[in-house]
Amino acid sequence: MLKVKIDGFEVEVPEGTTILQAARQIGGDVVPPAMCYYSTLKGSGGKCRTCLVKVTKASEKDPRPLPKLVASCQQVVMDGMEVANISSDEVLNARRGVVEFLLVNHPLDCPICDQAGECHLQDLAFEHGLAQTRYEYDRRTFEQIDIGPYIKLHMTRCILCYRCVHVANQLTDERVHGVINRGDHAEISTFIEKAIENDFSGNVIDVCPVGALTDRTFRFKSRVWFLNPMDAHRDCDKCSGKAVVWMYGNEIYRVTARKDYYGEVHDFICNTCRFEKKQASDWVIEGPTHIERHSVISQNHYENGGKVVR
Ligand code: SF4
Ligand code: FES
Repeated sequence: MLKVKIDGFEVEVPEGTTILQAARQIGGDVVPPAMCYYSTLKGSGGKCRTCLVKVTKASEKDPRPLPKLVASCQQVVMDGMEVANISSDEVLNARRGVVEFLLVNHPLDCPICDQAGECHLQDLAFEHGLAQTRYEYDRRTFEQIDIGPYIKLHMTRCILCYRCVHVANQLTDERVHGVINRGDHAEISTFIEKAIENDFSGNVIDVCPVGALTDRTFRFKSRVWFLNPMDAHRDCDKCSGKAVVWMYGNEIYRVTARKDYYGEVHDFICNTCRFEKKQASDWVIEGPTHIERHSVISQNHYENGGKVVR
C-alpha cells in the first residue's frame, strides 16, 4: 500500500491508484471536480483539466515538487506523495481559468436547459466562474440535431469531454458517432445525423456532464427539482432493470440510471427501460432515491422512513 497526503489528509491506497481516486477515498472538499473522467468508462479523463492539482512532494524517495500542475484523474500516486487541492491558490486560480475556458463557447442558457440542477458545469461555474466573460469574438454555434427518436444533441453546449464517445464504444455494438475535426472545429457527429439504433444508446444522456445530450421524451416537461426521484426496478432481459423513475404524483416523467455520489452510473440501463416504460405499473417502486443535500434537487425532498415527504 502507498501513503498519500491530500490537503493534509492521509490515506493508504493500492499501487496504480490515481490522485483523484485517492481523494475520493478521503471524500469531502478534498475531491477535485471531474468533468471528463468517469470511473466506469475505460480511457476516460485527461481532456477537461478541471481536476488539476499541485503535487508538492513527488514521493518519499524524490521529495521534489512536480514542476507543473497535473491532472489528478491521470496521475498515479507514489509512496509518500503530498498533494494540494483546495489548499493551493495556484490550483484554485488554474481551476477558475479552466472554467472560464469551458465557458468560452458554452451558452449560459441554464434557465431553459433540461440539465439545469444536475449540470456539473453549472456547479463549477457557480463555485469558480466569473460573473462576466472576457471573450470578445463570436461564439461557435450549431444547429440542434436529433440523434434518433430519443436523443437531442445540442452541440453548442458540448464541452468535448468524450464520455459519450466512450459509451458508444464500450456499451453499444455499432458505433456511429464520434468526434470529427479538431481544435475549435471539433464536434460530436453522427455522420449525417445517422440514428444511433442501439439498445444502450440512451446512456450517453446520463454520462453527458452538461446539457448537450438530452432526453427527447422529457425535454421541457419539467424542471428536475419539481419531480420526485424514486428508486425502482423491473424484470428486464437486457439490463439490470434498476433505475430511478422521476415522478410527479403517479406519473413518471423520465427514467434514468442510478448515479453514485460523484454522478457516475455503475449499472447502465437499456433504452426499453429508459424510454418505453413510463407507467407506474411498469415498475416496482422501492422508495425515494437518496439525494445529496448540496443538490438543488434535494429542495423539498425529504426521505422519511422510505417515503418522500414534501
Ligand atoms: S455531448 Fe456531452 S458527453 Fe458528449 S462530448 Fe459533449 S459534453 Fe461530453
Ligand atoms: S477529469 Fe481529469 S482532465 Fe477531466
